[in-house]
Amino acid sequence: MITLEGISKSYDLGSVQISALKGIDLAIDRGEFITVMGPSGSGKSTLLHILGILDSPDAGTYRLEEHDLMTLSDKELSRIRNQHFGFVFQSFNLFNEFNAFENVMFPLMYAGIRGSERRERARSLLVQVGLEHRLYHYPNMLSGGEQQRVAIARALANDPTLILADEPTGNLPSDKGEEILQILDGLNRDGVTVVMVTHDDVLGKRGSRCVRLRDGVVESDTGRAA
Ligand SMILES: Nc1ncnc2c1ncn2[C@@H]1O[C@H](COP(=O)(O)OP(=O)(O)OP(=O)(O)O)[C@@H](O)[C@H]1O
Ligand SMILES: [Mg+2]
Repeated sequence: MITLEGISKSYDLGSVQISALKGIDLAIDRGEFITVMGPSGSGKSTLLHILGILDSPDAGTYRLEEHDLMTLSDKELSRIRNQHFGFVFQSFNLFNEFNAFENVMFPLMYAGIRGSERRERARSLLVQVGLEHRLYHYPNMLSGGEQQRVAIARALANDPTLILADEPTGNLPSDKGEEILQILDGLNRDGVTVVMVTHDDVLGKRGSRCVRLRDGVVESDTGRAA
């Protein structure tokens, strides 16, 4: 599904350059559940941003199915991003002035889905994450676990083939984190590919494969043939 080769990314901070990724090779097959682990600053979020085309690498190649992403225009890249990826972040990133239902309707509106169908789909996504009783709650009336479930429903709106989750359970107590994991597991069983960053050793073993980063390189990868 995805092949990264020699992906590098540096951040220029005036006089200093920080090499966040130093030549990452990674192939992701459809249907995998990959956990990404590694110390703080090892490049996990940077890698996730590049995978999700939220950021572009300085060097290397990124192939997604038949597309060579390095050759595409920004417009084509955003189309691919919207078509393929769903994002879930540690801090939920919901719009506070909109309720759960409206938060999930946003991407559907951008996708040009009309009123009644949009409402129907937003409702069914919230039902899917167990929030049928919280449709009209605003984020500040929802628990952290509930907010994260709204964020997952929103990430699913465009029917993504790949979910990119950056420490989705990082702000949650472990029982609520477990609920999020079960939702991601269920999506993965339904065929959605999942890449999840986590600091939690127990959760890190829950995927089908664990990639460990250190100082911007892949230190180990349980999916790579020895
Ligand atoms: N926008 C930025 N500008 C400058 N440096 C950055 C930027 N984003 C990340 N970095 C640096 O790049 C390196 C990798 O950062 P990254 O956020 O990918 O780490 P991480 O593995 O996700 O860490 P954490 O576990 O703390 O979230 C770090 O040294 C970080 O300071
Ligand atoms: Mg990070």
